[in-house]
Amino acid sequence: MTEPTLVLGIESSCDETSCAVVADGHRVLSNVVASQIDLHARFGGVVPEIASRAHIEAVNTVFAQALAEASVAPADVAAVAVTCQPGLIGSLLVGLMAAKTAAWVWDSPLIGVNHVYAHAYAPALDAEPIEYPAAALICSGGHTALYRCDSPMDMELLGSTIDDAAGEAFDKVASILHLGYPGGPAIDKAARGGNPEAVRFPRSLLAGDSLDFSFSGIKTAVLYHVNGVPGSRGAKPRGESGEPSPRHSQRRCGPARQRLDSQPNAGRGIENFTPEELADVAASFQAAVVDVLKVKLRRAARAVGARTLLLGGGVAANSALRAALEKLAGQLGGKLRMPEPRFCMDNAAMIAGLGYHYLKAGKVDDLTLSAHATVRR
Ligand code: KG4
Ligand code: ZN
Repeated sequence: MTEPTLVLGIESSCDETSCAVVADGHRVLSNVVASQIDLHARFGGVVPEIASRAHIEAVNTVFAQALAEASVAPADVAAVAVTCQPGLIGSLLVGLMAAKTAAWVWDSPLIGVNHVYAHAYAPALDAEPIEYPAAALICSGGHTALYRCDSPMDMELLGSTIDDAAGEAFDKVASILHLGYPGGPAIDKAARGGNPEAVRFPRSLLAGDSLDFSFSGIKTAVLYHVNGVPGSRGAKPRGESGEPSPRHSQRRCGPARQRLDSQPNAGRGIENFTPEELADVAASFQAAVVDVLKVKLRRAARAVGARTLLLGGGVAANSALRAALEKLAGQLGGKLRMPEPRFCMDNAAMIAGLGYHYLKAGKVDDLTLSAHATVRR
């Protein structure tokens, strides 16, 4: 039997310091994640300077733990893969320096990995290989995009958000609803007891067959629903009326005018909402975001002729989204591949897993590899 090819992965693009060892691109031997959520929670979002410092403090420990948990010696590692783009530049640099140091000391190949591509590879971890072509929906706190994928490395961008990312919308709406940070899991939980049809928030689908996204309108609609429209307290907010915003054409369906009746405290501030009303707003917001993501993925799957639908990124952990896409895959007759919840959020296993494919293809970097806040290749 041949020895497995082990790749060590390092991820530090945002607020998780993670190192992992993955065998043959699939089998996860270790995946250590040090989350900084507690450090950023009181600011309601990631503070870049705090993030970089926390990565510096955590990286050595996380690195050593990943090797120890995998029972792997440096000599067993075939390559070091690292997130080099996109992300917070100070944070990326910490992981990149750790990876370069290891690659130099161990005399191993260094492989720079695109974080977003790695999210699309996450469904293959501790699972079967992915069947291509695939349409991938990647939605996280920093990104919301659709790709055509012909292999783990061949990714063609089909569309992306023109304003907020889906996860960012979850985080901002959770802040409006006083549900805490990070907002995605909090809204997912709060929505469980709510009625997703209680408030008809706008679905911004953009023109015709667009594969781009826009989530800023729905965030504003929730804000107006909760606090009222500035300067016209008590008046019906535009975002609640179901009317298209001036910038984006929005699909209108369902009983838009029932809303104020079913939410007597609308416009009065979140402290006046009953727990039931709050759950209804959370569920209605979540339903609107999920609808948009589903419609766009359906469009992309048709355009690609996809055999597989791929889901990745932190928002892929959302229970309503997972259920809706299961249904969609059934309708389309394709396979849906979603990461296990532990591989939805940022993690180094997905970096090591994808790095393996670059190694096999001979696509390796050298010590001049640099980090980029936005995508370069
Ligand atoms: O992929 P990720 O860990 O980091 C980025 O690359 O941005 O994604 C984090 C995002 C956050 O916005 C968080 O609120 C969201 O994923 N998220 C969720 C859920 N779990 C995490 N959004 C909706 N529902 C969830 N269950
Ligand atoms: Zn991510």
